[in-house]
Amino acid sequence: MDVFVIEGGRKLSGTLRINGSKNAALPLLAASLLTDDPVILRDVPDLSDIRNMYRLLAELGVESNTEYDDQGISKASLKVVDNSEFHARYDIVRTMRASICVLGPVLAKRGKARVSMPGGCAIGQRPVDLHLRGLEALGATITLEGGDIVARVPQSGRLIGDMVFLGGPFGSTVLGTANVMSAATLAVGTTIIECAACEPEIVDLANMLNGMGAKITGAGSPRIVIEGVESLGGVDHTIMPDRIEAGTFMCAAAITKSDLTLENCPLDAMMSATDRLEAIGVHIDPVDHPDRVFAEDPLRRICKVSCSETLKPVQITTQPHPGFPTDLQAQFMSLLCLAEGNSVITEKIFPERFLHVAELTRMGANIHRHGTTAVISGVNKLTGAPVMASDLRASASLVLAAMAAEGTTVINRVYHIDRGYEKLEDRLSEVGASIQRANEEEVAAMGLMCE
Ligand code: EPZ
Repeated sequence: MDVFVIEGGRKLSGTLRINGSKNAALPLLAASLLTDDPVILRDVPDLSDIRNMYRLLAELGVESNTEYDDQGISKASLKVVDNSEFHARYDIVRTMRASICVLGPVLAKRGKARVSMPGGCAIGQRPVDLHLRGLEALGATITLEGGDIVARVPQSGRLIGDMVFLGGPFGSTVLGTANVMSAATLAVGTTIIECAACEPEIVDLANMLNGMGAKITGAGSPRIVIEGVESLGGVDHTIMPDRIEAGTFMCAAAITKSDLTLENCPLDAMMSATDRLEAIGVHIDPVDHPDRVFAEDPLRRICKVSCSETLKPVQITTQPHPGFPTDLQAQFMSLLCLAEGNSVITEKIFPERFLHVAELTRMGANIHRHGTTAVISGVNKLTGAPVMASDLRASASLVLAAMAAEGTTVINRVYHIDRGYEKLEDRLSEVGASIQRANEEEVAAMGLMCE
C-alpha cells in the first residue's frame, strides 16, 4: 500500500484551483439515472469514490465517457442505455457507502431498487433509516432481504408525493435528502420535505434536477417542495467547487504560515469555516479577477489566504450546514495543535470522528478527548513520525500536521486520501510542499519506517 513521505517546515506559495465537489458529484452522478436523455456534468473530480460510482452506474445501464478541456477541466457525458437493472451489488456498495444515493433515482425511474445495505465506517455506524423512512413516506414498500434494501413503488407504478420529515438525532441527512428529493421529482403530486439538509451540495443537486425539468423550490432551506413531473430530460451542469477541499487548503496555508491564492473557491458555501479561520488569525481576502467583466460568482471566487504570526485558540462545534462542517473538524484540529492556548472541538454529527487524535498525539500534539469533545492544548511544535491514515478527512489532517512538523512523516494507507483529494501530493508539491508518494519498498530504501 502506498504511503506519503512528507518533509515538514516548507513554506507554500502560489495558486491552487479548487476542484468540483466530491460530495456534490456523487448524488449528481446518481441523478443521471432519472432520465433517458444525455446528461453532461462538468468538473467532476477524478477520485476513487467517483470511479467507483461510474462502475456502479455502468452496472445499472449507464454509459459514460469523460473528456478534458485545455485547462484540464473534466466533461463527463452520461446516458442510460438499459433500464432493466435495479441492483446495486454489495461488492461496490461496501467500497463506497455513498452508493446509497442511487436508491432514490433507481426506485423512482425503474419502479424497483435493490441496494446493498451500506456498512459503517471509521467515523461511525452510518445508518440509513431516515432514507428508508423518507421513501416509505412516498409510498414505497421497503424490505430487507439478505443484507439488501429492496424498495418497490406502489401498484400504480409511481411514487406518491407527500409530507416527509427527515429529522434524526443528529439533525437531517444529506444523502437522505438527496435520495428523497431525487425520487420525489418523478412522483405523482407534490412532496414537502421538512427538516431537509441545507448543505450547498443539496442546492447544487436541486439546480441540476431543475435543469432536467424538475420543479423544486426551497433547496438550501429546511423545507424543500418538489412538484412531481412525468419525466425528466437531459442537462449540461457544472458541479460546484469543493468547500471541504477549499477549507483543507486554507488550513494548509495557515499551518505553514504561508500565503496562498485559491481559485474557484466557494466562499459563499463555507462562511462557518472562514469565520473560524479569521478567529484563529487567518486572513481570507477575496480578490476580483482583474480582467473579468462579469460579477464574481459567489461560489467561484479567487481569494488570497494569509496568516498572522501566532495562531489563536478557538471553540468549534460541528453542526449541520450552515454550521461548522464535520468534514473540516480533523483539519482544524491539526491547525489548533499549534495555536497559543487551549481550543475546544465538539463533534455533534459523528461522535466517533476522532481517530486522528491518537495519530496527532504521536506527532507531539497535546489533545485530550472527553466523549464528543476534544481539548487541544497548543504546543510549540509537532515532530514528524510514522502515522496511520484511518478515514478520508483524518488523513488530510495528518498531511497538514506533517507539513508543519519538524522532520519527516510517513503516512500509511493513503488510499483513504485518494478517495477525496485529487492528486493531493502533486498539487501541494506545486506550491512548495515536500510530499511524495512511495511504496513500501521505496520507504524501506529511504531507511524510513512504514506500517
Ligand atoms: C454526507 O454523508 C457526506 N458524504 C459526509 O462527508 C458528511 O460528513 C455528512 O454528509 C455530514 O455532513 C457525502 O455527501 C458523500 P448524513 P451522509 O446522512 O449524507 C445520521 C466526507 O468526508 N443519520 O448527513 O451519509 C448519521 O449517522 C464524508 O466527505 C441517521 O441517523 O451523512 C450522522 O450522525 C464523510 N440516519 C448524521 O445523521 C440516517 O438515515 C448525518 O449523516 C442518515 C444519517
